[in-house]
Amino acid sequence: MTDILTITMNPAVDVFTSTANVRPTHKLRCGPALVHPGGGGINVARVLARLDVQALALYPAGGLTGGVLRKLLEAEGVPGRAVAIAGETRESFTVHDEGSGQDYRFVLPGPHLTGAEWQACLEAAVTVPVASRLAVASGSLPPGVPDDVYARLARRLATQGVRLALDTSGPALAAALEAGVYLVKPSLRELGDLTGAVLDTPARRLAACRSIVHAGRAEVVALSLGAEGALLVTREGAWQAAALAVPVASTVGAGDSFLGALLAARSRGMGFDEALARGIAASAAALLASGTALCQRADFERLLPQVRVQPL
Ligand SMILES: Nc1ncnc2c1ncn2[C@@H]1O[C@H](COP(=O)(O)OP(=O)(O)OP(=O)(O)O)[C@@H](O)[C@H]1O
Ligand SMILES: [Mg+2]
Repeated sequence: MTDILTITMNPAVDVFTSTANVRPTHKLRCGPALVHPGGGGINVARVLARLDVQALALYPAGGLTGGVLRKLLEAEGVPGRAVAIAGETRESFTVHDEGSGQDYRFVLPGPHLTGAEWQACLEAAVTVPVASRLAVASGSLPPGVPDDVYARLARRLATQGVRLALDTSGPALAAALEAGVYLVKPSLRELGDLTGAVLDTPARRLAACRSIVHAGRAEVVALSLGAEGALLVTREGAWQAAALAVPVASTVGAGDSFLGALLAARSRGMGFDEALARGIAASAAALLASGTALCQRADFERLLPQVRVQPL
């Protein structure tokens, strides 16, 4: 049986390559392409699979790229369920600039989904039996999908006793918090956009997370702070952890690895402190890997003992 269900409304085939210097007009001769299945929820499912959690990735897929996406997931051994759509699944393109060490990330809007198509995704989500009673939805929404789709998903899953963890931004995040979700994982920028508050001190960040929890908008707020680590707040307590200092090959997928490892721990009944530690270790492991490769299990296990979690 599926332990954790992941939902990705706007998946992608992620293409990653590198070039000496990104500059205009000239042909940029690139290195070999690395191709991975991608989109927030799909990445979370890839991380869960590496941590021996039975994840099922649910996503809409169409066209030739949709077929490629299915095959890529299969090749990684991640169980998937594709909901057929008429449009063409998108590709995302990341170029590593060797001169500056920076990644240039080109992100297409994705195919237009009809009402029947996005509703079919919701229908499919509620038919999956989920052992841990945890589902995670992550990523942006493609054209045609209303901003309240995650709010609807949270309500539909709740009727099955399944709790929704959410990693998204903007109006889709705001609408879902109106409906109420189990867990949110905003980055600092996303929380700032949501609350409109200045979040320049630990006290202000804690207060912003607490206000979401106390308003009943989410039971758990896992605020990721990039190089500063993360903060996790529930009604019962709050914990913080510094990030690990590791050489950064790429920050792509750090948030997805963080969330995957955190939920893997929760699905195994670990406490929030342990879950936070695992999120920090997995996100640090993701930084070691270039592009969309995400965290590797061996790096995660090696880094985990280095994480220090502090109750607040
Ligand atoms: N430069 C860094 N150094 C060390 N750890 C980092 C760094 N960037 C990210 N991390 C780790 O990855 C986690 C998630 O990163 P971040 O807060 O940037 O979220 P994100 O979801 O990847 O960001 P966004 O969605 O805004 O692009 C952090 O909590 C931290 O543990
Ligand atoms: Mg993120």
